[in-house]
Amino acid sequence: MNWDILNSRSYTPYSGKQRSCLIQGKSGKFYAGVRIENVSYPLTISAVQAACSICVSEGDTPSALLLPDTDFDQLEYWKNEFGLEIRVISDISTIEPEDLSKIKSTSEGSDLQDLLSKAVAPNSDFPVSALLYTETGMYEGVNIEFTEWASGLCAERVALAKSIANGDTELTDLAVHTKFGEVSSPCGACRQVILEHLPLNKIRLYHSDNSMSEHFTVDLLPFSFTSGSLRK
Ligand code: THU
Repeated sequence: MNWDILNSRSYTPYSGKQRSCLIQGKSGKFYAGVRIENVSYPLTISAVQAACSICVSEGDTPSALLLPDTDFDQLEYWKNEFGLEIRVISDISTIEPEDLSKIKSTSEGSDLQDLLSKAVAPNSDFPVSALLYTETGMYEGVNIEFTEWASGLCAERVALAKSIANGDTELTDLAVHTKFGEVSSPCGACRQVILEHLPLNKIRLYHSDNSMSEHFTVDLLPFSFTSGSLRK
């Protein structure tokens, strides 16, 4: 891998400021994270937040953070959260981050149920699972919580962070499941993020009573916030 390729996978239409990083897990595996901006700027996922969340969602524990430079947000927080060793490194040509794409699911409802066990939600005890489909594959997402609540990511956004960091941006549809909710229903922040990446697509929601409902993303966020003047 090299930083130019990884940086180019960032989704930064508002700032143009591409950012990417690699987390090495205790397993030795490397997980890529890229910055994913949103038209509502505070919903932006930072590269380090993405990489840490992805690593934890794979059952691994972040141990080192590899960066092209130190121009990253909240480095101290992430360093302390996991006791990360921070390595500023220009040559990552010997490193290949994990390709986390999966073969498309054929039994979506039961796969989503099984996936709940991978959620890391010590604060809420409320596991959520998501499957995000692209033209070529599928990405699993579970919710990940950290000491700082606001730094965690919902299942939907972990799946999105994996696909974007993998350079797999032809997103087609999304399925979401929660066991304890009366209904499975993405939060408002996820609806905003989902709408930006899957504007004409559908979401399938698998509810706790084993029923499923399918919705256009636009129907889940009517009269949404948008502005052409924000897009560069
Ligand atoms: N959560 C999701 O994963 N997706 C949603 O759409 C709703 C909320 C997670 C985030 C947090 O880990 C827990 O549920 C409680 O908010």
